[in-house]
Amino acid sequence: MISFKLNFKKNDDSPKPGDLKKNGKSKPEKSKGAQAGTPRKKDILIPYVENTSKTLVKNNGIENDLYVKHDVKRGLRNSNGTGVVVGLTRIGAVDGYKINEKNEKVAVEGKLYYRGYDVEDLVKNVISEDRFGFEETSYLLLFGELPNKKQLAEFTELLGSHRELPVGFARDMIMTAPSANIMNKLARSVLALYSYDPTPDDLSIPNVLRQSIELMGHFPPLVSYAYQAKKSYFDNESMHIHNPLPELSTAENILRMTRPTGEFTKLEARLLDISLMLHAEHGGGNNSTFATHLLSSTDTDTYSVIAAAIGSLKGPKHGGANAAVLNMILDLKKNVKDITNHKDVEKYLIRVLKGEANDGSGLIYGLGHAVYTISDPRAAILKGMAKELAVDKHLLDDFMLCDFIEKRAPSLYKEVKGTDKPMPANVDLYSGFVYNALNIPIDISTPLFATARLSGWCAHRMEELIAGKRLIRPAYICVQKNYDYTPIGKRK
Ligand SMILES: CC(C)(COP(=O)(O)OP(=O)(O)OC[C@H]1O[C@@H](n2cnc3c(N)ncnc32)[C@H](O)[C@@H]1OP(=O)(O)O)[C@@H](O)C(=O)NCCC(=O)NCCS
Repeated sequence: MISFKLNFKKNDDSPKPGDLKKNGKSKPEKSKGAQAGTPRKKDILIPYVENTSKTLVKNNGIENDLYVKHDVKRGLRNSNGTGVVVGLTRIGAVDGYKINEKNEKVAVEGKLYYRGYDVEDLVKNVISEDRFGFEETSYLLLFGELPNKKQLAEFTELLGSHRELPVGFARDMIMTAPSANIMNKLARSVLALYSYDPTPDDLSIPNVLRQSIELMGHFPPLVSYAYQAKKSYFDNESMHIHNPLPELSTAENILRMTRPTGEFTKLEARLLDISLMLHAEHGGGNNSTFATHLLSSTDTDTYSVIAAAIGSLKGPKHGGANAAVLNMILDLKKNVKDITNHKDVEKYLIRVLKGEANDGSGLIYGLGHAVYTISDPRAAILKGMAKELAVDKHLLDDFMLCDFIEKRAPSLYKEVKGTDKPMPANVDLYSGFVYNALNIPIDISTPLFATARLSGWCAHRMEELIAGKRLIRPAYICVQKNYDYTPIGKRK
């Protein structure tokens, strides 16, 4: 045991608790640095962080060899590129490869199943029955079976009756301190809803299911109002607040609340509905759903879990890729005069891969996937929808641009990087196109992904509470050398 002998100097003049009261001062005195004529806080902080971050970077690098030496599953991937198995689920299956007898990954066409149903069948059936399908999909994900007519009507009505936000919430929590990024506002709104819940920490399944249904009802107005606040505060545009209507589907309510006139066509709502169906679930291993399992495994509350999942989804390597695709296309159009000129488009894509164009990340957004190899089934369905929209909305050049990127970028990647990598078009390449054609602003493209994926997150959260039952706690090997402490007077 360590014993501490604290040695306070008699003439120690540092402030002690209660000092302010004793002096009769209500506020601490202004420090000299804050007086007029002295540098502003930022003028001091920016050079400070620029200098000190060099030390920070130097002390945080880890050589690649060490990852190999310790057999670290970087990114939770095995050496053959497959994902490390960390759990079991009944909710969704993402099939993107097969493993042969030599334990190698073999590319196959992608398939996606929700509770054992092929997502292509779910979409085909709602199209042939000419109805909305996102509510049915959410029911399937939550309860594990397809609803009959009565169950679906009851569930849809329940969602509709929970669209309205708590009294004063839009004013107090959304309109004040708007955010330039709706995902951050959405996460904050979800965290704030904790305060409006009489039993926020109750982990019983009926209570978590109640919270899930309420959140599913609330997401369309949370997203739409946050977008309206952003438009007014950051873009200097008019704000249009339309109340949600309980009889409308999730897709219809989103279009109603985000559009200035509140008007939309049936076709637009049906296409958005299909897009929501396609984004609702993607197995347990995708980053935001894994975050849902990770946090749920600590027995924390639903609001903390969903806010964390939103934070994960925002990243441009995950759900934020749909906005990143749209921004990349805007950047391409600024740099390439004629988007039908394939040679010029190629030159631009090579510059992107070299980190010289767009955001400098070296990534062509909308391509590549951690699981899919030959194809992403969601992208294939969205591509079909995109093609029809392209004809209808006279956007064929834009559609053909995405098609060209999809076909040419993998070989360009090989030419630039010298390595081969399966790079199928992923869901975000064509969802960006579809949202753009539907006049859905870039600002809400990722929040719409969150609105859809919330159903999957809630299903996985309850699965973790029912079946997981182990604190998720992997290991990190510390590769830092240990030192003897140097007293402050002896440091360089
Ligand atoms: C989705 C994604 C993260 C999956 O990646 P992954 O298969 O796990 O592959 P890794 O992240 O291990 O990347 C392997 C290499 O391929 C590169 N790569 C992967 N996708 C790429 C892309 N779309 N454009 C350029 N390079 C890409 C990576 O930069 C990495 O290069 P490095 O070895 O030089 O560091 C990745 O493909 C990506 O970032 N795509 C763009 C973002 C996107 O569209 N995300 C939506 C996913 S649905």
